[in-house]
Amino acid sequence: MAVNPKQTAGERAADYVSDGMIVGLGTGSTAYFAIVRLAERIRDEGLGIRCIPTSERSATLARELGIPLTSFAEVLHVDVTIDGADEVDPAFNLVKGGGGALLREKFVASASETELIIVDETKLKKRLGAFPLPVEVVPFGWQLTRQRLQQLGGEARFRSSDNGAFVTDNGNYILDCSFGAIDDPPELERRIVGTCGVVECGLFTGLATRIIIGKSDGGLEERTEPGTLS
Ligand code: 5RP
Repeated sequence: MAVNPKQTAGERAADYVSDGMIVGLGTGSTAYFAIVRLAERIRDEGLGIRCIPTSERSATLARELGIPLTSFAEVLHVDVTIDGADEVDPAFNLVKGGGGALLREKFVASASETELIIVDETKLKKRLGAFPLPVEVVPFGWQLTRQRLQQLGGEARFRSSDNGAFVTDNGNYILDCSFGAIDDPPELERRIVGTCGVVECGLFTGLATRIIIGKSDGGLEERTEPGTLS
């Protein structure tokens, strides 16, 4: 049977969840497998957890699977979050937001003691930047925000969906920005989020604590020390 590296990584990440935890649920096709596995553990082992989803999509999936949900109205700390990424560099900097959920993903990650990133090998990069960087912007004056991002050196493309503009769960737009190879991710992140009109950007620096990599041969690799990704 064909191996799905995203499934291998997602299911492995669910092993790090234990009874009583508050768990952040990521978004995307890799996080999907972790969410399904957590639902199995709740059903089969009686695992007692409460989860905070990072998107309406993941919230809907969790409800369908019978996973108990909570929110920041009830808890202010997350024990572990499991989420995917579009790119990961050797210093554990990430590009995220391919699915448009970057704001809630970063918000939940910033509240999390442990941030598990689940990827297949194709997401590992020596330098970030081949994947256009998603930037969430307020609809008001987004054209000016786009110009400001372009002045930072990014070629910014408005994200569309089949029905017109792609609108995030927070009612905002996404500009996908090509900056080329990113030499200094924390500095670029600071400059982008310091731009008026920007709500958040998909550069995640200093947040990932463990990278779980599903391999095409069925194997798994885990890294907890930045600098050790090849
Ligand atoms: C969504 C994300 C996803 O984690 C990222 O796009 C990876 O997705 P996938 O696991 O489907 O490859 O950041 O906003």
